[in-house]
Amino acid sequence: MNAPLKSDSKSLLDVLNHRYPKRRPIWFMRQAGRYLPEYRALREKAGSFLDLCYAPELAAEVTLQPLQRFDLDAAILFADILLVPQKMGLELEFVQNEGPKIELVRSREDVVRLDSVGAAGKLEAIYETVKVVRRQLASDVGLIGFCGAPWTVASYLIEGGSSTDRSLARQAAYEAEWFGLLIDKLVEVSTAYLVEQVKAGVEVVQIFDSWAGDLPASLRRQWCDEPVRRIVSGLHDAGCDVPVIGFARGVGAGQVEFAEHTGVAAIGLESSIDAKWAVQAIGANVVLQGNIDPVAVIVGGPRLEAEVNGLLDAVPVERHIVNLGHGMRPETPLGHVADLIDLVRARDAVDFVDV
Ligand code: CP3
Repeated sequence: MNAPLKSDSKSLLDVLNHRYPKRRPIWFMRQAGRYLPEYRALREKAGSFLDLCYAPELAAEVTLQPLQRFDLDAAILFADILLVPQKMGLELEFVQNEGPKIELVRSREDVVRLDSVGAAGKLEAIYETVKVVRRQLASDVGLIGFCGAPWTVASYLIEGGSSTDRSLARQAAYEAEWFGLLIDKLVEVSTAYLVEQVKAGVEVVQIFDSWAGDLPASLRRQWCDEPVRRIVSGLHDAGCDVPVIGFARGVGAGQVEFAEHTGVAAIGLESSIDAKWAVQAIGANVVLQGNIDPVAVIVGGPRLEAEVNGLLDAVPVERHIVNLGHGMRPETPLGHVADLIDLVRARDAVDFVDV
């Protein structure tokens, strides 16, 4: 382990590059979102959620909002995983209180029509957001870009939006002769999209496979692990040497294979995983991100404190990015988020005393 770097180094990048950080890096999935009153106000002003995603100055402001309020170590680009299929040619709408509605993909014809070559070029507004954020970001804060993993994005296209258990998408993963072509197209476009984000200035990327836990191990290897591996290697082939965080939510013990097979620098752990197990089971060169239960942050108080302390006891500083096991919920009290960060910082003061 190398010596700690100068004080304006980015703890997020230090950990991902196997350097000892100056403190435990913290960021939260959905850290910009409806639990923040300033987000709700700006969203109102922008009109719709999609208008907000495609307005670089406003999206940059939303990206930076949580950093103005909290002592975080990273910003995550404000956008959505469904912008990519939208630019592949599918109608997309976010219905208030219902979530996304997207044009169906349920046949080979539907897949053939999707534009996987030009789509990344149509997302300039997102790259512009990255540039605006980079200009305003403090020197010790990292900027994370992202995309949806092919399986998770495919599940929305096959279901036409959110669904209870993605049953139709799972059936297609078993038997549809066009399913592999859909995944191939999503691999291609996601890689190109991440390359452009990196060129615009993101320093880390996260691939969200939020529904990876839906698939049995055999299908998971084929439709989660392998497509994510192809995106990671495609990025590196394109000369983008940024660390990749893979978030294969819900795969449990499958995290071991996911980490090995994909070659990601870090894995995001869902809250049901025992961090003590992960520290032993996952290859030591892989950084662990997570995994406080978002519901524990709603509860707050001594129960949250116990969860945080248990996690920090389990995961060594140099291997840990503090996060939740899934996104911050809209009903989360702001004070509890501040408490969570304070709890980690209080432990930093102890853990880093002799560094
Ligand atoms: O702060 C951040 O994390 C960055 C921005 C971000 C959003 N979505 C903003 C958003 C990121 C990284 C995402 C990823 C995303 N989008 C995922 C993967 C992560 C996960 O939560 O599992 C998925 C599955 C989506 C698709 C999506 N977007 C759904 C299903 C919904 C509706 C449900 C919900 O949580 O509102 C969205 C809407 C969405 N994406 C909002 C935000 C802030 C809420 C929009 C609003 O009403 O203002």
